[in-house]
Amino acid sequence: MLKGKTAVITGAARGIGREIAFRFAEQGADVAAIYSGSRDAAEELCEKIRALGRKASSYRCDVSNPDDVKETIVRIRSDFDGIDILVNNAGITKDLLIPQMKEEDFDRVLNVNLKGAFHMIRQTYMIFARKRAGRIINISSVSGLIGGAGQANYSAAKAGLIGLTKSVARELAGRNVTCNAIAPGLIDTSMTREMNQQAKEHILETIPMKRIGQAGDVANLALFLASDLSGYITGEVIRVDGGLCM
Ligand SMILES: NC(=O)c1ccc[n+]([C@@H]2O[C@H](COP(=O)([O-])OP(=O)(O)OC[C@H]3O[C@@H](n4cnc5c(N)ncnc54)[C@H](O)[C@@H]3O)[C@@H](O)[C@H]2O)c1
Repeated sequence: MLKGKTAVITGAARGIGREIAFRFAEQGADVAAIYSGSRDAAEELCEKIRALGRKASSYRCDVSNPDDVKETIVRIRSDFDGIDILVNNAGITKDLLIPQMKEEDFDRVLNVNLKGAFHMIRQTYMIFARKRAGRIINISSVSGLIGGAGQANYSAAKAGLIGLTKSVARELAGRNVTCNAIAPGLIDTSMTREMNQQAKEHILETIPMKRIGQAGDVANLALFLASDLSGYITGEVIRVDGGLCM
């Protein structure tokens, strides 16, 4: 499905990003894996991808730092033939009720989850526009659709990401570049493993499908949105949530 394409994926060393990177590679894509923390985990992923016969390199980059992003895209462009797919997956949570939430925690979550995607898109925009082809996929959240108690910063960032998605979709539609958002519900990754067990059980009760989602559930949709099969879909937000928010 992605033969001959190059995908740039942020937050690729683990969780949903890792699953997307591997799924894309299985379908023929070369992968530029952006990570912020564990070089070993990112390199291990790249090894697995190279074992599939695909090209893969890892890049340490804090997506909230515009200079870091600019430099990383320059490096990726010199290492790969071009960029066909961008997945803005990097994200963090700093959950607290508003009276306890520090302004710096609000800013940090916005800077990584929302501005990080903006910086990545800004540095790749003209690559896609000139090529008159491309796929941009932003990993939002159901929290951006319905809010989340204790998640004012995260929900604001993820809702902002939906506005960003639609604006980018409009700006680049005439250039045959699509931009869509995925809104996962509760997915089994380190992010949710850190959650309070009681809160998790409460959410589980409200999921019509009665199970937590897997990173692969999200990766399958990302694969479709990255492929030629989704060529007439843009500015869309698709939930992967077992029916949680319908
Ligand atoms: N797990 C869920 O239930 C769930 C639900 C909805 C949305 N999401 C979103 O899915 C995405 C992936 O999350 P996950 O569940 O795999 O969690 P995760 O914590 O395993 O992955 C997040 C990744 O982002 C990276 N990252 C964090 N800050 C970064 C920065 N400044 N620069 C570059 N990379 C950075 C981390 O190193 C990590 O690899 C996130 O955007 C998250 O908000 C997750």
